[in-house]
Amino acid sequence: MSKGNISGYGLIGFPLSHSWSAKYFLEKFEREKLTDSFYQLFPLPTLSAFSSLLDDHPELSGLNVTIPYKEKIISYLDELDQKAREIGTVNTIKITRLYGKILTKGFNTDEEGFILSADFSGYSQAFILGTGGASRAVAYALRKAGIPYTFVSRNPRNKDAISYTDFQSIPFNSPALIINTTPLGMYPDINSYPQIPYNKLTPDDFLYDLVYNPEQTLFLKKGFESGARTQNGLKMLKIQAEKSYEIWTIENE
Ligand SMILES: NC(=O)c1ccc[n+]([C@@H]2O[C@H](COP(=O)([O-])OP(=O)(O)OC[C@H]3O[C@@H](n4cnc5c(N)ncnc54)[C@H](OP(=O)(O)O)[C@@H]3O)[C@@H](O)[C@H]2O)c1
Repeated sequence: MSKGNISGYGLIGFPLSHSWSAKYFLEKFEREKLTDSFYQLFPLPTLSAFSSLLDDHPELSGLNVTIPYKEKIISYLDELDQKAREIGTVNTIKITRLYGKILTKGFNTDEEGFILSADFSGYSQAFILGTGGASRAVAYALRKAGIPYTFVSRNPRNKDAISYTDFQSIPFNSPALIINTTPLGMYPDINSYPQIPYNKLTPDDFLYDLVYNPEQTLFLKKGFESGARTQNGLKMLKIQAEKSYEIWTIENE
């Protein structure tokens, strides 16, 4: 419950120089005439400031979480949604204030954002580039969809992962789904791209980039030039944001 009629939301992370989420929610609140809602950036140099942030902003009903706190925030929360527990990362926090007590519950909406953003049927193998926070939500979604996947990592640490060098030489059976969950190609580093076997791509393959700025990364451009299907992360971003808002505003979630 928020203070008076004001519903406050925001983003924690560090550093927070620019934020797509703030722009998205401020535009949404204006469009939907939610004049009592606001969205603010809270750059936290350390998570030890999390509890005083909640005390100092009694109007806060929900937060998004970004790099580098998606995993570390878990130990600061009162409760964890089952899916967030299984994925191991949180990008959404619902804040409930009852009789002077503050209750926080963590959720992950990246997984739904990803799986609802495209039609993934018909792909019998997937490669997930990168092994960070977002890759775990993608892997969870693929497991649920029954699509076998392999991680591609600079430092493969377990049997689920191969190196980029291995990826160049292993058999590659189209139709394959290749998902970039690394920051390669993201503005301003727009000339970088993951080193995958682009020469083996066919029009049956699907290159999906979680990066959305620029609209077409070099990874997607190279896929497009091979005739492969391509999609950037913008739709995923919008869906995960709307799912966060649903969690913040639906009672007893
Ligand atoms: N569209 C959306 O809704 C959405 C949602 C979440 C995240 N994202 C985007 O997804 C990207 C990853 O986010 P994240 O939270 O997972 O970040 P992260 O936790 O920092 O993980 C990124 C992973 O990428 C790999 N990597 C990092 N730098 C690399 C480099 N120079 N070369 C090759 N691989 C590199 C690393 O895996 P290895 O060490 O195993 O190589 C790392 O674990 C970001 O660009 C983020 O903006 C988009």
